[in-house]
Amino acid sequence: MPLFYTQNINETTRLAVWHITEPEAFFNKIYIPRHEISHPHKRLQHLAGRFLLCLLDAAFPVNKIQLDGRRPYLPDNSYYFSISHCSDYAAAIVSRQFPVGIDVELVAEKLLRLEKKFLNEPEQLLIRRKKTNLTMVSQLTLLWSTKECMFKWYAKGNVDFRKDMAIKDYTLTGDAEGIASAHFGKEVDASCTTQFRFFDNLCLAWLAQPPH
Ligand SMILES: CC(C)(COP(=O)(O)OP(=O)(O)OC[C@H]1O[C@@H](n2cnc3c(N)ncnc32)[C@H](O)[C@@H]1OP(=O)(O)O)[C@@H](O)C(=O)NCCC(=O)NCCS
Repeated sequence: MPLFYTQNINETTRLAVWHITEPEAFFNKIYIPRHEISHPHKRLQHLAGRFLLCLLDAAFPVNKIQLDGRRPYLPDNSYYFSISHCSDYAAAIVSRQFPVGIDVELVAEKLLRLEKKFLNEPEQLLIRRKKTNLTMVSQLTLLWSTKECMFKWYAKGNVDFRKDMAIKDYTLTGDAEGIASAHFGKEVDASCTTQFRFFDNLCLAWLAQPPH
C-alpha cells in the first residue's frame, strides 16, 4: 500500500507519506527531474517526493520548482511546501497558508552517538528526566526530526542546531503521536509547536505555522 498516511491539517495544508515500492516509470508519469541524479535510489526518493506534492494538490506546479542550493522553492510563492525522504519512504507537506517543514527518519541507533552534536545541555537533561514510554533512541529520533522540520520551515539555512533551536518539551497525545514545543532563536524569537507521529520504526515530524 504505497500511500500509507495522509493528514489534513486545515483546508489548505495537507501532508502525506508514501512507501516507495514502484519503479521510476510510475513517478515519471508526473515528473521527470531536470537535473542529473546519478544514484538510482536517491533518484527514486526525489521522484516520490515530487509525486507526493502533486498528489496533495493536483494543481501543484511541480515543474516550476527552482533550487536555492538544495532547497526547493516556487518563484511565485504560490505554495509553501517541504519534502523529506529516507530509506523507502517519502513525505511531503503542502500549504497555501503557512510556511511548512517536514522530516521523516528511521529510528536508528546511530543517533545515540550523535546526541551531543544536535542537542544542547538542557535538551540532554530533558530527555533523561522525561517520563515517557518512548525508548531513548525513539526520543532522540523525535528530537532530531523535530529540529530538521524546523530547519526546513525557517528556510534560510545556516542554523546551529544546538544554539538556534531549543526543544522545551514533547508529549505523546496518543499511542504514537504527539506534539513538541520549541523555541527558534535565529534572527527572530519564534515559539514553534511541531507535531510528530511514529509508524513502527519510522518517525515523522512537521511544522506548519506563520512565518517568524
Ligand atoms: C539538507 C537537509 C535539510 C536535508 O537533507 P537530507 O538528509 O537529504 O534529508 P531529507 O530527506 O529529510 O530532505 C531532503 C529534502 O529536503 C529539501 N531540502 C534540501 N535542502 C533544504 C533546505 N536547505 N531547506 C529546506 N529544504 C531543503 C529537498 O526537498 C530535499 O529533497 P529533494 O532534493 O528530493 O527535493 C539537512 O540534511 C540539513 O542540511 N540539515 C541541517 C544540517 C545541520 O545543520 N546539522 C547540524 C546539526 S548536527
